[in-house]
This record gives sequence, structure tokens and C-alpha cells, in this order.
Amino acid sequence: MKENKNLPYFITWTSQEKAQTLPLDKVDNDFFYGKGIKWLNLSSISYQASFGLKNTTILKAIKSQMDEFSLASPKHTYQLKEEVSKRLISKTGSGFKCFFTLSGSEGIENALKIARQFTKKKIILSQKNSYHGSTMGALAITGDWRQENHLLPRQWTKYFPAPATDPSGEKLEALILKIGPDNIAGICIETITGGNGVFIPPSSWYKAVAKIQKNYNILLILDEVVCAAHRTGPFFGFQNYKNVQPDLIVTAKAMTGGYFPQGVLFVSQKISKYYDKSTLSCGLTNYGHPLGLAAMKAVLDLTEEESFKKKVQKNVEIFTDFFNALKLCEIDCRHIGLLGAIEMNNKIKLKDLLDSGIYAGIQNGRIILAPNLLIPSKVLTKGLNDLGMVIHDKLT
Ligand SMILES: Cc1ncc(COP(=O)(O)O)c(C=O)c1O
Repeated sequence: MKENKNLPYFITWTSQEKAQTLPLDKVDNDFFYGKGIKWLNLSSISYQASFGLKNTTILKAIKSQMDEFSLASPKHTYQLKEEVSKRLISKTGSGFKCFFTLSGSEGIENALKIARQFTKKKIILSQKNSYHGSTMGALAITGDWRQENHLLPRQWTKYFPAPATDPSGEKLEALILKIGPDNIAGICIETITGGNGVFIPPSSWYKAVAKIQKNYNILLILDEVVCAAHRTGPFFGFQNYKNVQPDLIVTAKAMTGGYFPQGVLFVSQKISKYYDKSTLSCGLTNYGHPLGLAAMKAVLDLTEEESFKKKVQKNVEIFTDFFNALKLCEIDCRHIGLLGAIEMNNKIKLKDLLDSGIYAGIQNGRIILAPNLLIPSKVLTKGLNDLGMVIHDKLT
């Protein structure tokens, strides 16, 4: 790891003088290689590489689409676009319509625009300690340090406490009554908080949210940018709970395995019908890009294979055993599916992991893990053993 002061491009989310970078010469499915060193990717880079760094099914699909056509207008209709949309919608279990985006931030932007346009209300409720993206609208509802010092319509965002401190949703309801439900367009939630700590809301909380949606006619926008595409088990994170009925679902990252920057905003029927007659004032030049659609189709193909469930299940067992062992050592940690957080109380730096050959997220003094869902079990076991040793060294 190196401090780089004079790069001809920016490094994100850091002062450029303190930016720490890693050399990259090549990758194989599970490792990054740079300057003769290799690092095991235990975070799917930033959650997007959920199917490895060299997934042949996805790469082949993109290459073969390149030979067909690589460019299309947002207004073009074609078989691949229709098939992928229908198959994606079938994952939601009910009638949604797809709006394609290029990133999670853009998914959130468009969800906010649609929620406000549809309801004709302005306020969005958002959770403290959340992240929703880097564009102005997405930052406006972000509840962590990344929104500071940006000029935002703050009066249009109100923050509610995390579910862990409000498991029955009483504080959330009190906030709604204080603001006045008639002023609130929607409530936006990371279904399961990702980078900010993998906090898994209790089912009582989602029950309360469902009641609030119904009683106060407030839209539920779920940010599934991290959770979607089986990161937490089922296709969507909300499918870990009963009877959660989102109005808008934002996805990106692993929906293409990260091989093409494309996401999907799922819009429920009640909202999408509104646009039969009203103008949808949303759009992007690269909307529904054919190469992104090809990557999404490949993700659907490979996650629907019989063997996929079995392979992921095996890895979830290994991951769960690792977390259970940490708990036995009284280490504060949480996990669901193949997403996990380990509280390190700032006793670890990214350099400590890299020195042990591991590439994973360190955020707010904790380790965040999100291995490739299809990582060979032996590689995962060895990687977690190595990680366990680093954790042990740092915490004892
Ligand atoms: C929960 C969540 N929402 C939205 C985003 C923004 O996605 P993107 O970086 O693709 O714009 C992220 C990115 O990390 C995220 O973790």
C-alpha cells in the first residue's frame, strides 16, 4: 500500500495527499496481483464482484452481445431488454416495472424523483448511519459523514433512529406524526445496512414499517444496492422478512457482477400506472445499455443454475462457522448470508489486512466482509483462517 501525491486522477473519498493506493497488474477469479504480491478479495471489491473477478459466464455473455450490437437508444425495444426485464420482475414476486440506471446513486436519484412526483410531497425519511450514494440527491438522504459540506435541501430529509434503537418503530411513527404524514413522500431504507455496519433490523421493525406505509400512505423505498442478487441469501434482502412490500427498489452493483455499470430501479405497479398518462421526467443516455443487459442476463442464468444454491449454501456455512467462532471469543460481530461486520474498535487498519494477503473493507473501525458468493470453499476457509489470526493478534 502506497501514499500517492501526484496521480493524474483523483482517488475517491480521501484527501489526495493521504490517498492510499494498491498496485494492480492482473487478477484471477479470487485474487488481485500487484508488484509480485497477491491479495484475496474478501469484499467482492465494493460488493459488486459477487461472482468473482473473472466470471466466464458473464464475460462470455458480454462478448457475445458485442458481436450482436453494443449500442442502442433508450427508445429501442428488443428481445434481450424484454426478457431481462421480465425475468428481473419475476424475482420481486409481484408487478413491478424496470427503470435502468448506471449506478446505485442514480437509482436513488430516480427513486426520489419518482416518489416526489407521484405523491406530490417533498419530505423523505432516511435512517441515521446510512449511505445512499454520491450524487446530490442521494447525498441529501445519506446519514453518514459523506453528506457533510454539500449544499443540500436538508429541510426535505428527516432522519429516524436506527432499528436497533427503535425495534418496534415507535420513534419512527412519532417522527411521522410530528412532521405530518401529508408532507412525507417516502421512507428510504437500506434493507440491511451495508458498509455502515451490517445492522440487521428485527422483523418487528419491518412489521411496523408495513403498518406505517398503510396507515399514513407513505411510500417505501428500499435501497438494495448492496443486498440484491443473493448477497444476504434470497434474491432481495427484503425477502429475509415476511410481508415487506416496497414501492420502489433500488439495485446496482452485483446485478451485473460489476462487469458493466448498470442497475435497476424497480417501480411498483401502483406508481408505474401513474406514468401511463403522466410524463416520466427521468432518463439517461445509456439507459438499458445492451452490454449491461447481457451481463444481467448472465447473472440471472448463473444464479438460477441448480448448482448455484448448493455452492452458496456451503460458503454460507463456512462463513457462519467463522462468525460463531468469533462470537465464542466474545467478539462483537454480525452476519447474514455472505455479508458480515466485525467490530474492531479502530484496532485495525486496511494495511494490517493487506499485509496478511487480504483485501476487505475497513469502515468506521470495523471489518466488512462480502466474499464472492461462488468463491471456492477451500479458498474461503483459508482466507477466513488468515483473517481470524489477524483479528486475534489485534484484539488480544
Ligand atoms: C447502500 C448503498 N446505496 C447506494 C450506493 C451508491 O451506489 P453507487 O456507488 O453505485 O452509486 C452504495 C454504494 O456503495 C451503497 O452501498
